[in-house]
Amino acid sequence: MKSFGLKTLAAIATLSLAAGSVTANELRTTAKSLFGSVTAASKKEINDPKALLGQALFWDMRLSSNGKVACASCHYQENWGSDERPRSINARGGRTLQSQTVFHSQDTPGLRWLADRASGAAQAMGSITGSMGFAKREDILPVMEKFGYVEQFQKAFPGEATPMSVENYGKALEIYQRTLRTPAPFDKWLNGDDKALTAVQKKGLENFINVGCVGCHRGSLLGGDMLQRFGIADNYWSHTGSTDIDSGLMKNTGKEEDRFFFRVPLLRNIAKTQPYFHDGSVADLKKATDIMAKVQLGQTLDDNTLNELVAFMESLTGNIPVNFVAPAGIPFELPEGVKKK
Ligand code: HEC
Ligand code: HEC
Repeated sequence: MKSFGLKTLAAIATLSLAAGSVTANELRTTAKSLFGSVTAASKKEINDPKALLGQALFWDMRLSSNGKVACASCHYQENWGSDERPRSINARGGRTLQSQTVFHSQDTPGLRWLADRASGAAQAMGSITGSMGFAKREDILPVMEKFGYVEQFQKAFPGEATPMSVENYGKALEIYQRTLRTPAPFDKWLNGDDKALTAVQKKGLENFINVGCVGCHRGSLLGGDMLQRFGIADNYWSHTGSTDIDSGLMKNTGKEEDRFFFRVPLLRNIAKTQPYFHDGSVADLKKATDIMAKVQLGQTLDDNTLNELVAFMESLTGNIPVNFVAPAGIPFELPEGVKKK
């Protein structure tokens, strides 16, 4: 599968900054070469009929086998497009891995913890028989027809012989989710606004580069473009307290060398998408950061360095996109036990 090409075992190269003596310009120039900024969706993208259709499909609880689960049931506003439950519950009552945020998810070369979905459309079509609980993909078609979607599909896919299809369900959801982008203070700073980051956040950015986080969490999403072993210097579960030991990519490939490989997660909005890791085993960002330094880099960081790293990651929090909400007339309720904020 294409996305397995993302796996890298090679030594992780990183650019380092001289300790203590970096100027504001040096820090920005280095950061620009390692990361990159993101922009919000335009009105035109948001109001594209395909994106509007995708928005309705995303929030509509009726489009599942039990009539109670929408995409948004595990990807809701309260947790910035992810789920506060360590494991989500699908329409068959089954437990999943930790739900990742859908914000910026469409810009990665392989989706999910194992990068095993090549596109947002493929991911959405897979959800029909996965999270949404239908026996076959086509089983969603009569349900969409019953709830009046035929016309909206015709409008979104004009001139096609069969506008309402499983493929177009996938396409509309991908196009909607492409609009879920969240520029943050970090982007303002990258683009030249010195005051957008506090002194502590800038120190945290320096640490992020010098400690070596950037070796894996790089690019404009600070992750998402490679698979890496979770637990390079030590077993991850000794630190996370995980009870189910997940073998990662090896589950898909059967190869011993793929054991414990996971996609490096995006860190955009990370301060809002707790709990952390594929099994949701850690609730707190500072603890997750401490674990990362220990198990990925073999380093024990002092309290100050950890606080600065967390402050930097807080600068990656953007605003919830204006169209990340159930459209008028579409029924959506948060799952049981999740409180409205
Ligand atoms: C029952 C909860 C649940 C529902 C319902 C659900 N998801 Fe997810 N979603 C998850 C979980 C859990 C993951 C991580 C799965 C994995 O990696 O194996 C995920 C992963 C994703 C990702 C990948 C994010 C990334 O960073 O790679 C996208 C995109 C996504 N879901 C979109 C959707 C869409 C669209 C729907 C509706 C068609 C949907 N989800 C329905 C729980 C859910
Ligand atoms: C060798 C590669 C590598 C390095 C270096 C690395 N990480 Fe990670 N990071 C990963 C992988 C892989 C995961 C996913 C682990 C899993 O399966 O849950 C991850 C997960 C995370 C998470 C949890 C994300 C989520 O959505 O749950 C955070 C936060 C994080 N890393 C921050 C950092 C910080 C801060 C540093 C530097 C101290 C760092 N990482 C260094 C590869 C790396």
